[in-house]
Amino acid sequence: MDKLIVRGGKPLNGNIEIGGAKNAAVAILPAAVMASSGIGVIDNIPEIEDIQCLERIITSLGCNVKRTGNSVEIDSTNVTSVSVTTEDVRKMRASYYFYGALLGRFGKVRAELPGGCPIGVRPIDQHIKGFEALGAKVKIEHGEIEATADKLVGTNIYFDVVSVGATINVMFAAVLAEGTTVLENAAKEPHVVDVANFLNTMGANVKGAGTDVIRIVGVKELKGCNYSVIPDQMEAATYMIATAACGGKVMIKNVIPKHLESVSAKLVEMGAKIKEGDDFIEIESDKELKGVNIKTLPYPGFPTDAQQPMSTLLCTAKGRSIINESIWESRLKHVDELKKMGANIKVEGRIAIIDGVEKLTGAAVKATDLRAGAAMVIAALSAEGESEISCIEHIDRGYPHIEEKFRKLGADIKRVKA
Ligand code: EPU
Repeated sequence: MDKLIVRGGKPLNGNIEIGGAKNAAVAILPAAVMASSGIGVIDNIPEIEDIQCLERIITSLGCNVKRTGNSVEIDSTNVTSVSVTTEDVRKMRASYYFYGALLGRFGKVRAELPGGCPIGVRPIDQHIKGFEALGAKVKIEHGEIEATADKLVGTNIYFDVVSVGATINVMFAAVLAEGTTVLENAAKEPHVVDVANFLNTMGANVKGAGTDVIRIVGVKELKGCNYSVIPDQMEAATYMIATAACGGKVMIKNVIPKHLESVSAKLVEMGAKIKEGDDFIEIESDKELKGVNIKTLPYPGFPTDAQQPMSTLLCTAKGRSIINESIWESRLKHVDELKKMGANIKVEGRIAIIDGVEKLTGAAVKATDLRAGAAMVIAALSAEGESEISCIEHIDRGYPHIEEKFRKLGADIKRVKA
């Protein structure tokens, strides 16, 4: 497996361009398979491992998939299979979006259960509850899920928890159902809105995405369309936090600042300077930051996906910081790695108590999951001395060209091939 070698302690300066949002793109590609005519051309697709897995799965269903740069073309007119059982399915979480997409279009899907980051128990009961409410029969046996329906009929569905995945997946099944579906207690993340906009561009009738009530009037068919994915707010958050940790001044281009409000607010509270324009955020830091408390929450609260990178920054902020990870029960595994670099952190369940130390020092550490990987890169960039980060396949699942982008900002970071 590849490794990243980082010599830390350099400030970050310059400009960086953010790519398309992973968590929007990984839902939009499966949704594209619902088009029964026309060709979908989706732009601003990030070059990450999760997308390559999805492209292979879509090809295995009988679709034609062509990638040119950041654009993916999908012809799903002649789908030949509703079985999603290649090994790629187990490598990522978002493979579960084929359940809703194929059930919606064909009334049938058989798939292996999904993989993804080991950040806690990741139930799919709310997805299943939604499919069943629409009239599907769902069975899970031998690690596979099978859902079938003679027809799907719209209804009111109240989610017991706010779930990005369940909101999107049930929306997929509902857009081609007969009649009206109302999703209550829906997730409001920017990627939920982006996916709804994509469905509407394909001919669906989805209203209210971005609020907690989404209303879907079923249509007869969806068609391929041209679409461009929103910028990745978590990639942007990662570069913002890295700049705050290393010091320097970085202009982060191609972002929607509104999507990053909770992260920007915390960084300002810590003492970083932030300027926002229509599509950029400029961040400046002298590394003299103070500790803050963070509780992760569904959007528009502080995002769980930024919690691990933020915890690295808090390691060298003055005073005590407390993190309360309210979404995932095991998203603090990276703390042991940060401790190897000199961090002073105590974990009690989902709470991390961080007492700021003067500096982190380079060490051999590993990426325990995707955002933990980003946290370790930030730690290594800001630390004194050399670090070696292993298990970076987690990082490659979600961050395009991370070492090149940081190098452009002045970091000393290189990839060593296995
Ligand atoms: N939950 C249930 N039942 C369900 C679904 C979810 O109890 O049927 C619970 C989960 O256990 C969790 C909470 O609801 O406690 C939220 O889970 P959600 O369904 O929103 O998460 P997800 O859809 O599996 C997506 C992102 C994650 C991100 C979460 C929360 C994708 C592919 N993944 O996961 O992203 O942390 O939403 O915002 O969109 C990442 O990018 O690093 C990542 C892990």
